[in-house]
Amino acid sequence: MHFALVSLFPEMFGAVTDHGVTGRAVKQGLVEISHSNPRDYTTDKHRTVDDRPYGGGPGMLMKIDPLQQAIAAARESAGSDARVIYLSPQGQRLDHDKAVALSREKALILVAGRYEGVDERLIEAEVDEELSIGDYVLSGGELAAMVVIDAVTRQMPGVLGHELSAQEDSYADGLLDCPHYTRPEVYQGARVPDVLLSGNHEEIRRWRLKQALGRTQQRRPDMLAGRAMSAEEKTLLAE
Ligand code: ADE
Repeated sequence: MHFALVSLFPEMFGAVTDHGVTGRAVKQGLVEISHSNPRDYTTDKHRTVDDRPYGGGPGMLMKIDPLQQAIAAARESAGSDARVIYLSPQGQRLDHDKAVALSREKALILVAGRYEGVDERLIEAEVDEELSIGDYVLSGGELAAMVVIDAVTRQMPGVLGHELSAQEDSYADGLLDCPHYTRPEVYQGARVPDVLLSGNHEEIRRWRLKQALGRTQQRRPDMLAGRAMSAEEKTLLAE
């Protein structure tokens, strides 16, 4: 997967390119990253990347020409079939299914805006889809783009180790994760549930599924609303 990043702050992306699961995917060559910075396409002395909004009001917008040229440069490095995504609170909300769908693309161009946003005509001309990571406003699209990179990269074959496949990730089965425990057996007077010490793998699987169902029902009933339940799940939830 090639992520071509369009941003005024390329150094921010070190958080995902240099660390952890995503950093390893970059090192292994499963993920390729390129940057285009609108500031590199300015022509004036001050290297201006913002411009005033028509109609007035507070705040500035991204200046059209440098941004358009940075997107063109990203297309050059990512290939002509790359999907162009503009991160914005006005977008469709990113969820697990969307991350899986995007992980099947060959290349994604992630456009991170700053200031109050981007001229609507540029969005219409250059962007395939707008994507939001949640119902709040960030100070720029970079953090949102990093969330996309992380969530999408985890879904790519070969990225997670054999002991932890993306299918076992919380959300893959439409449920919240079950609780987890590590040593010691007693921590601040609280014991690890006996079943996890039993060695009975079938019992453990059933216990974990029951916990996941119970938590999801309690904390996120909306997730269960549109989800079909197996006979086993119905039994466990009713127990
Ligand atoms: N840019 C600013 N806020 C954002 C959000 N919630 N999601 C995606 N991009 C954004």
